[in-house]
Amino acid sequence: MKLTGDIDTLLTEDVLERYQERIELIHHKLHQKKEPFTGWVDYPANISPSLVEDILSCAAKISQQCTALVVIGIGGSYLGAKACIELLQSPFYNERYAHLQHTPKIYFAGHHLSSIYYRELFKLLQEEEVAVCVISKSGTTLEPAVVFALFKEFLQQKYGNRAKEHIYAITDRSKGALRQEADEQGYTTFVVPDDIGGRYSVLTPVGLLPIACAGIDIKAILAGAQKAYQEMQCLDLRLNECYRYSLARHLLGKKGKTIEIFEVYEGKLRYFTEWLKQLFGESGCKDGCGIFPASLQMSTDLHSMGQFLQEGRQDFFETVITVQQLAEDMMLIPSPLTGQVNTMHQLNEVIQQSVRKAHAPNGTVNLTIAVENISPETFGEMVYFFEKACAVSCYLDGVNPFDQPGVEDYKRNIKALVKEAK
Ligand code: PA5
Repeated sequence: MKLTGDIDTLLTEDVLERYQERIELIHHKLHQKKEPFTGWVDYPANISPSLVEDILSCAAKISQQCTALVVIGIGGSYLGAKACIELLQSPFYNERYAHLQHTPKIYFAGHHLSSIYYRELFKLLQEEEVAVCVISKSGTTLEPAVVFALFKEFLQQKYGNRAKEHIYAITDRSKGALRQEADEQGYTTFVVPDDIGGRYSVLTPVGLLPIACAGIDIKAILAGAQKAYQEMQCLDLRLNECYRYSLARHLLGKKGKTIEIFEVYEGKLRYFTEWLKQLFGESGCKDGCGIFPASLQMSTDLHSMGQFLQEGRQDFFETVITVQQLAEDMMLIPSPLTGQVNTMHQLNEVIQQSVRKAHAPNGTVNLTIAVENISPETFGEMVYFFEKACAVSCYLDGVNPFDQPGVEDYKRNIKALVKEAK
């Protein structure tokens, strides 16, 4: 991962010297793992090979058993898997490749309550062999629990007393209603590690099982994360791109840049930016502060929000995520419009440069993070890079990256209001 843009203007020698010691303290705080919920820091390096094999054999069993897998979960319990499948699978995976690969179509559920969506989904699933993977660390979040109840009913009608063989649960080792039910009913289960919170759990069974079911190489994802884990052990602020990015965010926040806009030109990264919004939003925005994470997909949003970027309030900075090389680029039909630019990816790069050029006179701050290519390895690298960057910049801002008291408040309120409802 390579960080360019305005980074050197922000991180002058003087700034680097001033922050070096603080970064080292934060690094040790994370790596000593004395703080709660820091289990993700070395998880990719320590994940047991037998757990990886168990995940792979469970995914193989699911592929044999069903043609459609419904993944039920909300927030950190679904966004990582969704981001990965959108990035690494064909955009027409459900329509075409699931069948060709003999892996199940994947549908996500439980992260919203749209009656129309579920009515249509149940109709569609009548024609499929179905399995359900329900993911909830607490095992008590209302939206996925309600949707899971509907799916249990559906499976019961479809498979009778064999329904429970079609249910896979990923939850806490011992706590919560879902754990209790899974043990009583004998569902196949995987554990969300105690010391890893939802939004830092993509590289655990939470993300890895659905991702493996979509036929994506999870060992390669873990290898990418392990590489990032090694690289990001470097304490030198001049060399560690992850810590440089964390510090840049912190400094920009202090300068009143209260919005970070993640911009992608490769549309397959769109859900990755949704995952980023959750990671940074839930981790960093509390105690009346924090940087609001937003995302734009170009060129689509250049024709709407591009106007805001160009001439709106300059209280944001842009974090552009670019892909250096695409394995399968699309050649363009030669035309006077595109001159010597031969491929779609190259044209995207030209568009990106022209946007940068347009924004520069306004003083818009640009951070550009380049990933080598789109592959399982780089997905693993990106996840680890951003998880660590998020935790470090939260500590720099003086907030706890691993709690989400605001989200817990709303969860508690719904339960109380549901009880009161007549
Ligand atoms: O990151 C988090 O902790 C949250 O986004 C949770 O993942 C989300 O609220 C779902 O919680 P649970 O897995 O307990 O159902």
